[in-house]
Amino acid sequence: MSIVLDQSTVLVTGANRGLGKAFTEALVAAGATVYAGARDPGSVTTPGATPVRLDVSDDASVAELAARLGDVTVVVNNAGIGRSGSLLSTPSLDGFREELETNTLGPLRTTRAFAPVLAANGGGAIVNVLSALSWATSPTLAGYSASKAAAWSLTNVTRGELRDQGTLVVGVHVGFLDTDMAADVEGPKLAPAELVRQVLEALQQGEEEVLGDDTSRFVKSVLSGPPAHLVV
Ligand SMILES: NC(=O)c1ccc[n+]([C@@H]2O[C@H](COP(=O)([O-])OP(=O)(O)OC[C@H]3O[C@@H](n4cnc5c(N)ncnc54)[C@H](OP(=O)(O)O)[C@@H]3O)[C@@H](O)[C@H]2O)c1
Repeated sequence: MSIVLDQSTVLVTGANRGLGKAFTEALVAAGATVYAGARDPGSVTTPGATPVRLDVSDDASVAELAARLGDVTVVVNNAGIGRSGSLLSTPSLDGFREELETNTLGPLRTTRAFAPVLAANGGGAIVNVLSALSWATSPTLAGYSASKAAAWSLTNVTRGELRDQGTLVVGVHVGFLDTDMAADVEGPKLAPAELVRQVLEALQQGEEEVLGDDTSRFVKSVLSGPPAHLVV
């Protein structure tokens, strides 16, 4: 299962800024037809992409778009949020609920809605943007990492369930990216365009996983070791 980019019609979620914008720009440059999904379509600035309204935390928004965009062959589940703080001592779990709605149920919603569209168009691909924090965690990023761990599990479920319809499912893991989400983070951050380059290569090669940087490669390498190695 490999993807020919200039014959693809791609929906990118969270396409207006950060990594989603980098996906949108690179896919347009590669000759793909691109629907740029955003809560505010007016905030999409990439020439050549078609802005579409999409809130991945809203069942109706996702279902309405899937009913309208019958030509989609690739879905890039990129939209995400991060709320920091301890899950054990925070006064409310509302931030964690938001992370689950967006980071876990969001890609699941789009997958459920667009899987029949992809099947009708020959299989195509789903890209799920996960994180090194799908595997490692820290007390202050607990909700985010739990939401991405669940999204990783759902990525594996999706890969198995859609195998027979010929859909390639790509899980993308990375440490920190140089975007708004990690604006307060000090230390190495990968350029969004570099991660996108790797993901587009994986799609063309039919590869199911992208480990975008040293952090994600290191975290995956210690998964078989003591659990304490997964808490930073
Ligand atoms: N930045 C990092 O260090 C890092 C590391 C690993 C993985 N990731 C993952 O990479 C992906 C992209 O993150 P980023 O770094 O580009 O973050 P970002 O700069 O904060 O951008 C997040 C994007 O997601 C959109 N979004 C949020 N909630 C949405 C919703 N309910 N419906 C539709 N769109 C929504 C935002 O739209 P608005 O403009 O409307 O808010 C924005 O376009 C996320 O899945 C994130 O978890 C990021």
